[in-house]
Amino acid sequence: MSFTPTITQDFLYSQIADRIEKQIEQNVLKSGDKLLSVRSLSKEQGISISTAYTAYVQLENKGLIEARPKSGYYVKFSSNHIPTLTSSKKSIDSIENVSVDDMIAIIYKNITEEGILKLSVATPSIELIPAAKLNKSMMEAIRKSPHSCISYEDIQGNLLLRKQIAKYCFSWGGNINEDDVVTTQGCMEALVFCLKAVTEPGDTVAIENPTYFGIFNVMKSLGLKVLEIPLNPVTGLDLEYLETAIEKIEVKACLFVPSFSNPMGCCMPDDRKKQLVNLLGTKNIPLIEDDIYGAMYFGKTRPKTCKSFDKKGIVMLCSSVSKSLAPGYRVGWVIPGKFKAKIINIKLMHTVSSATPTQAAIGHFFETGRYDLHMRNLRKALHSQCLKYIQAINKFFPDDTKISQPQGGYVLWIEMNKKINAFDVFKDALKQNISISPGQIFSTDASFSNYIRISFGIPYSDALENSLKILGDIVKKRI
Ligand SMILES: Cc1ncc(COP(=O)(O)O)c(C=O)c1O
Repeated sequence: MSFTPTITQDFLYSQIADRIEKQIEQNVLKSGDKLLSVRSLSKEQGISISTAYTAYVQLENKGLIEARPKSGYYVKFSSNHIPTLTSSKKSIDSIENVSVDDMIAIIYKNITEEGILKLSVATPSIELIPAAKLNKSMMEAIRKSPHSCISYEDIQGNLLLRKQIAKYCFSWGGNINEDDVVTTQGCMEALVFCLKAVTEPGDTVAIENPTYFGIFNVMKSLGLKVLEIPLNPVTGLDLEYLETAIEKIEVKACLFVPSFSNPMGCCMPDDRKKQLVNLLGTKNIPLIEDDIYGAMYFGKTRPKTCKSFDKKGIVMLCSSVSKSLAPGYRVGWVIPGKFKAKIINIKLMHTVSSATPTQAAIGHFFETGRYDLHMRNLRKALHSQCLKYIQAINKFFPDDTKISQPQGGYVLWIEMNKKINAFDVFKDALKQNISISPGQIFSTDASFSNYIRISFGIPYSDALENSLKILGDIVKKRI
């Protein structure tokens, strides 16, 4: 018998009870959730059965959990049940003088919030996705796999998926086989691998201006400098500017989105893509081609890729199914040309292999022809949505508004009166539960301050039209 162990025991059960209480407070444990049995809790935490039991009794006495006969302990209380009288959220009005990074963080935060119309997100809304067929492909792929997709996948990537990607490349003028493809976790990972393969921290990489904010986040994280090349709203990259710039500055790589750039939506004509590849070929500068929107074309044929003009293996084509099918699956790929061995090595060091079930499911979805059918429907839907959005913006926004006329992709780039600060429009819109992307986040120096980007990924409806009207009124009030 001793005095000390008793104190330790008391302390222990209180500690366990406090930790469970915190989980309830933070909604990690919700009303109705079953708790571990006393025996399991004791085993899991390495405590005695009586300590585990006493912890539960303490929580029960506080009214946080309840014992159900022959069933065990359940969470009784949830912070969700207490009406929120005052919101602790920082008012959107108080967000002033924010940096580009802060703006991006605020926008990302709203991406998963319920009740907000997300015109800021360049992905198809769930109504446009054949979710049931995709689920079927997932089930069938797991069933067909000898190891139920549980084991590590081949480092280069799932063979069926690579075969299907190789087959699909025929549509953009590609003549490749499964050995030329390396799979990744989304397009973003493909871009990171390519940059790592051809640059060192401190090197300069040419990118488009404006460009997708994720691209300069990656540049920053890899310690790279950026050289911003202007875009023509219709023909894309200013090749003459690039040619002059690479004479003066040592550029280690280029990272462009030649087909339906984000946010401008422009598409380089095939002959300019060829010119670009020839130019970079003579200088031996690798081109990382982000082709994530290439398959979302509105015309009769898919635009060619820079990769299709690449004779020297300097183009690394990156893409994913994030815009066409399932951003959450994180299935992407790179066709790395002469950098293949380096890319596989980087992948091995980074992630070993990509997730097995999602790669297998997408491989199956392609193989069964479901992808082709889905893409035909998606392209039609996006084209019609794009035209309707443009019409509505023309109707509801001030007369001096200029709107891009994309021939593919997901986004409209809108130029407003110079007096308007796009971040103010963003804040006003968020108060009305509408999220848009302010132009400032698409360049390193927060220029494009009188531009906004709107995605037309959500099907058109009366409610949507009303939201575009609200947005137009917000812009009008800001002049
Ligand atoms: C041009 C561009 N590249 C890459 C990505 C990211 O792709 P993923 O989600 O497949 O990583 C996006 C997403 O918006 C994008 O617009």
